[in-house]
Amino acid sequence: MVRLRGVAKRFGALDAVQPLDLDIHRGDFLAILGPSGCGKTTLLRVIGGFLAPSRGTIEIDGVDVTRLGPERRPTNMVFQGYGLFPHMNVRQNISYGLRLAKLARPEIDRRVGEIAALGRIEDLLDREVHRLSGGQQQRVALARALVMRPKVLLLDEPLAALDLKLRQTMQEELRRLHREIGGTFVFVTHDQGEALGLANRIAVMEAGRIVQEGTPEDIYGAPRTRFVSTFIGEANMIPGHRRDGMIELAAGAMFQAPGPDGPVTIMIRPQLVRVGMDKPTGDVMVSGRLEDAVFLGPYVRYRVRLDNGAGIDAHDADARRRIGLEIGARVHAAWTLADQRIIDDS
Ligand SMILES: Nc1ncnc2c1ncn2[C@@H]1O[C@H](COP(=O)(O)OP(=O)(O)OP(=O)(O)O)[C@@H](O)[C@H]1O
Ligand SMILES: [Mg+2]
Repeated sequence: MVRLRGVAKRFGALDAVQPLDLDIHRGDFLAILGPSGCGKTTLLRVIGGFLAPSRGTIEIDGVDVTRLGPERRPTNMVFQGYGLFPHMNVRQNISYGLRLAKLARPEIDRRVGEIAALGRIEDLLDREVHRLSGGQQQRVALARALVMRPKVLLLDEPLAALDLKLRQTMQEELRRLHREIGGTFVFVTHDQGEALGLANRIAVMEAGRIVQEGTPEDIYGAPRTRFVSTFIGEANMIPGHRRDGMIELAAGAMFQAPGPDGPVTIMIRPQLVRVGMDKPTGDVMVSGRLEDAVFLGPYVRYRVRLDNGAGIDAHDADARRRIGLEIGARVHAAWTLADQRIIDDS
């Protein structure tokens, strides 16, 4: 649906987006995820035609749109902060693009009515936009973009201005809209929970580059770099060294893992680490003292200070086990080889 080849954007001496390739498929709900300043908005604006790329080409639905402005692309964008017209009411905001396109009055009314029903804002159509709550403004901004029936809907941090509860509700709404419309949605976020909760594919950006792209399960389960490991979810990062197909951890364990000689980092998610005073089951085991055990609701977080001074976290959904473990006690932490990821550092 959308094909980017060698697309880059420079602002003076700053490479906001480094040359990158990206394919967005029809029906995708793609998240562009990364920390503040990594180039997400710039990339989205380049796709929408609000910024011309410094190099590279953009194709949408088989048509080269690299040189076309936003009004001539089959895209529509919901901006960070929504950008509603303050002097118009909700109906006028939503119908603005249709009126510009000189559609007949009855057709405009029909389409506004249809999209208002879909977005559940029928009751708001005659309201002034400055009298709307944040969540209502968000719905109006979405309706204003969707009423144009874009092939690709671009959303810049669509839920960032909402509180946690409303964000969760709007996530469900967005998933429902995407299902019902069946369109291609691309959204930008710095919130990993939002990316995991909404997208069927995630492109992780770091300093102007897409460093990994895949399904949420891929990105969370098999992160390829340290950055991706720690940016998405919590991760233990354990240093080690590989020689002749054996990895030795600085914390003491040793196991077989073919690959090039040199420094490595083992990534293991805390919920895949088991802690116990007797040797817990697992292929890799390290030992130390229990430094902290805190009940966090869904799980207990154990922190173990290993003999080499490093820390390791384990999350255990079974809170009853906490009773048996005393702070300062000698404990072991173990996990299975299949659950860890090995990142080559050289
Ligand atoms: N019009 C511009 N002129 C010069 N530099 C810009 C311009 N727009 C963005 N930048 C710079 O490009 C880099 C990427 O900016 P961008 O807005 O794409 O980041 P972002 O990932 O969307 O960040 P955030 O999560 O904070 O919105 C930043 O260093 C920013 O200062
Ligand atoms: Mg931004």
